[in-house]
Amino acid sequence: MPAIEVKPGIHWIGVNDRTTDLFEGMWPITQEGVSYNSYLLVDEKKALVDLANTSHAGTLLDQISDVIDPSTLDYVVINHMEPDHTGAINLLCQVAPNVTFLCSAKAAPMLEAFYGVSPDHIQVVEEGQEVSLGEKTMQFFMIPFVHWPETMATYEQQQKVAMTGDAFGGFGALRGAIFDENYPDMTFYRAEAMRYFANIVAKYSTPVLRAIDKLSTIEISVVAPSHGLLWRQDPMEIVSLYATWSGYAATGGTPGVTLIYGSMYGNTEEMMNAVAAGISSAGVPLGIFDAARTHGSYILAHLWQHNGVMIGAPTYEAGVFPPVAQVLGLLAEKRVMRKRVARFGSYGWSGGAQRAIEGILEPLKWQWMENLEFRGAPGRDDLHQGEEFGKRFARSLLEEAGS
Ligand code: FEO
Repeated sequence: MPAIEVKPGIHWIGVNDRTTDLFEGMWPITQEGVSYNSYLLVDEKKALVDLANTSHAGTLLDQISDVIDPSTLDYVVINHMEPDHTGAINLLCQVAPNVTFLCSAKAAPMLEAFYGVSPDHIQVVEEGQEVSLGEKTMQFFMIPFVHWPETMATYEQQQKVAMTGDAFGGFGALRGAIFDENYPDMTFYRAEAMRYFANIVAKYSTPVLRAIDKLSTIEISVVAPSHGLLWRQDPMEIVSLYATWSGYAATGGTPGVTLIYGSMYGNTEEMMNAVAAGISSAGVPLGIFDAARTHGSYILAHLWQHNGVMIGAPTYEAGVFPPVAQVLGLLAEKRVMRKRVARFGSYGWSGGAQRAIEGILEPLKWQWMENLEFRGAPGRDDLHQGEEFGKRFARSLLEEAGS
């Protein structure tokens, strides 16, 4: 995509990535893609805000060249050090060897460590500091842990454009247009912003809320994150979504069930259908995920938004069926708190899954409701019990929410 003017003198020069399969080496984006958004501010002085990853460095330089000669850049602003936004530094430094990097105090030693940038070319900026480009002025706001500790946001005062790095970003390559106003159906971008939030940022929900508080003191005409859509028609929509999603860290989310199951020979799956019928009969939203066939990225996105987790897992070698264990381990790593949980599953000659699951989830302090185990294949009575079990669990979520 060519460079696109966001506001007079501020150009989006992002890169659409449709070939990387795993973002951060682990989150699937084969179908969805991702964009690395950079911004070029052109005035008496010229500044580039954020870059792209190494493999798209050439494309980024081409994008800059659409607007200016890259060798004439005065500043490169590093909002965030993660290599999806900085990998292009090496190539850029070959083209613009005298450029000055503007970054937070925590980012300065990282610039040297990751890319060998000399301290002579680094200027540390402080909270609220302003750097004039002529008629345009950049102001910097520290937003640590959104997503790394060195992260900041850059605000251009004349045009009121907030370039926020990972904050307010989303998965999903840009489909020919970069602004919210160009998409009559935003379903894809809202869903991918949510998945990105749950995968990348949700662990830092408190810092996200602090960042939102801080940025609420300035007037914003465009929210311009480093991934995904730019929010120009309704800049507060994505801020509001991020505030809602961050709030779920404290509340556990809205009433609903994420049913994560795995089944070797169909017995636990048969029970899953009975439990799901019970949950659905209570009228709460239900997402069903086969742990062996669904990446945790998608499960996490659903689970973050809802307060109930139903686990269907058989015993496997006196422990828990490994695909389910893997997903639960991801939830523990991501410190997903404040859920209600119940579990069902089959065993052959001895149990063990329940104890193993409780061990994985223990650090999260979830509220355990019930455990329904059965031996071998579920009979008619077992399935009836399973349906009632699902119904009780779903109703308890509604009661917890007071609805
Ligand atoms: Fe898009 Fe934390 O990097």
